[in-house]
Amino acid sequence: MSEAAGAPRRLRVFLETRRTDSWWAFQLFTLLVLTAFVAYATQRVFVDAHYEWGPYLSPFYSPVLFGDSRHALFGPKPEWWPSWAPFSPALLILAIPAGFRFTCYYYRGAYYKAFWADPPACAVGEPGLRGRRFRGEHRWPLILQNVHRYFLYLSVVVVGFLAYDVYLATQFEDGFGIGVGTVLFAVNIVLIAGYTFGCHSMRHLLGGRRDVLPKSAIGRACYQGCSRLNRRHMLFAWLSLFTVWSCDVYVRLLSMGVIRDIRIL
Ligand code: FES
Repeated sequence: MSEAAGAPRRLRVFLETRRTDSWWAFQLFTLLVLTAFVAYATQRVFVDAHYEWGPYLSPFYSPVLFGDSRHALFGPKPEWWPSWAPFSPALLILAIPAGFRFTCYYYRGAYYKAFWADPPACAVGEPGLRGRRFRGEHRWPLILQNVHRYFLYLSVVVVGFLAYDVYLATQFEDGFGIGVGTVLFAVNIVLIAGYTFGCHSMRHLLGGRRDVLPKSAIGRACYQGCSRLNRRHMLFAWLSLFTVWSCDVYVRLLSMGVIRDIRIL
């Protein structure tokens, strides 16, 4: 069928665009940062060391379900763990935040553009557009992204543990205190909570589930609070990624004796 007279011409060539801004810069940033983060996290998950120092517990390992840590909730490495398989407390827990971020509506939009350029950006020609039907996320394998809401439920529990870790980060051997790590952990939980409670699935859960906004004052306040956070979801997504990463690096370097914690109080 020919295009309607006066309608904008469809972009048929990959990367063809009339945009004059640096639309590719953010895609490049996304590609580099997410690649670096995934590489770091993948290596980190198998380390099984240097994840605690003094009152600090790395968020990559929290909560510790099993392991040789005083934070372990259920004791040391379980006997049923296969002897041939590497063990680390992070292996049991990191799938939750990783799955949560991987299936996040915002990150999906970002890494679809950055990693397989489909689409590369708004108003930029897609690869192989001619004759190809967009199948969205209704078919295999992208339909799996719909598990996002379940990762949300699990992540809310993890956020509770991370909040408790901030309290633990004030409990030094000589009593209450605040170190640089404590501040880092506190900033991290604020941003992680902002990211988690501004999740699109959370907003749906609190308000849109029945296509009727909550009638109770508490319900409305929760929905509006969630919506406010949701408007800055991209910002929370990036900032919390950097803080959770920084917290782990900080605890790791402290534990390895590379740096010293500075006590503020
Ligand atoms: S949509 Fe981003 S965390 Fe749910």
